[in-house]
Amino acid sequence: MTRWAHVIGTGGYLPETIRTNFDLSEMVDTTDSWIYERTGIKSRRIAGEDETASSMGEIASRQAIEMAGIDVQEIDLIIVATSTPDRVYPSTACILQHRLGIQNCVGFDIQAACSGAIFALSIADQYIKSGIAKKVLVVGSEVCSRVVDWTDRATCILFGDGAGAVLLAASEQAGILSTHIHSDGGYEDLLFLPNPQVAAVAKQGEAGYIQMRGNEVFKVAVNTLGRIVDETLEANGMQQSDIDWLVPHQANTRIIAATAKKLGMDMDQVILTLETQGNTSSASVLLAFNEGVRDGRIKRGQTVLMEAFGAGFTWGSALLRY
Ligand code: COA
Repeated sequence: MTRWAHVIGTGGYLPETIRTNFDLSEMVDTTDSWIYERTGIKSRRIAGEDETASSMGEIASRQAIEMAGIDVQEIDLIIVATSTPDRVYPSTACILQHRLGIQNCVGFDIQAACSGAIFALSIADQYIKSGIAKKVLVVGSEVCSRVVDWTDRATCILFGDGAGAVLLAASEQAGILSTHIHSDGGYEDLLFLPNPQVAAVAKQGEAGYIQMRGNEVFKVAVNTLGRIVDETLEANGMQQSDIDWLVPHQANTRIIAATAKKLGMDMDQVILTLETQGNTSSASVLLAFNEGVRDGRIKRGQTVLMEAFGAGFTWGSALLRY
């Protein structure tokens, strides 16, 4: 009997404040049409002063728990993917565990930049398949707005805030079919977020904002995501036509379109959220998945390919039967 990590609940949260491209054009030298044509983004959400990765993650988690109809005490593992944790320690997962009132459970954060949700799903899958955990809450939550330099037009146009959650349960019903995760630290200089408090690592005067060579990131992302599609299909002995939905990391419509083309998919088989959310880093795949599930596009029994690419570089995929 195969033991699967089966999806029993999903959730998502977006802060109330909307920042449009027009708002940005009053802050930096840019235009709505430049941003939309190059990225596909029209607006993004900005967390309120009191909102954090754990507070947003809590709302997304409660939705997933309610959909699953389980008692929170049944959750035995919480994995939070974030690059913008409430604190360095305790982990956001520990803070979330307390917010949710779960007594007997273990929680930890993982950091794989924008690939965080895929890495977290991969870890959750191993814990469930090995029999160590029965119910795992995976959360991606980011307040990117706090690590973006709002005077840098090359980066501030891209990012947004939000949280996504998925609840997985050990089941005889199919779930995660395979995950594939990779990293290559050789690309550190193309996309990084300094930690200015760690003096030995931070360069003199480096501020704690996202630094990016966007054009170069773009090219590597397109090639790498093409390869991960091949790797995932091959590992499962599947054809392109076996995939019902692509749920990509929401960084740039042109990167997403290149992956869809590689899969021979129309864009209407792709769950797209970035037009109104921007790049929410490790929250983006889970937010998109939640949207597709809740609006009824993704149906039980369908095959979903999730993929992501982020700083490190890190990249990966998760193929699942919903
Ligand atoms: N508004 C107007 N002009 C802008 C601008 C903005 N917001 N940002 C940059 N420009 C200018 C540049 O200064 C440059 O001007 P120049 O030709 O006079 O030097 C010109 O536009 C082209 O810049 P370039 O960086 O080559 O543009 P691009 O087509 O690569 O688009 C990105 C920029 C950031 C949209 C694109 O590279 C991208 O999306 N990359 C991937 C980034 C990403 O997804 N990162 C997260 C990965 S998880």
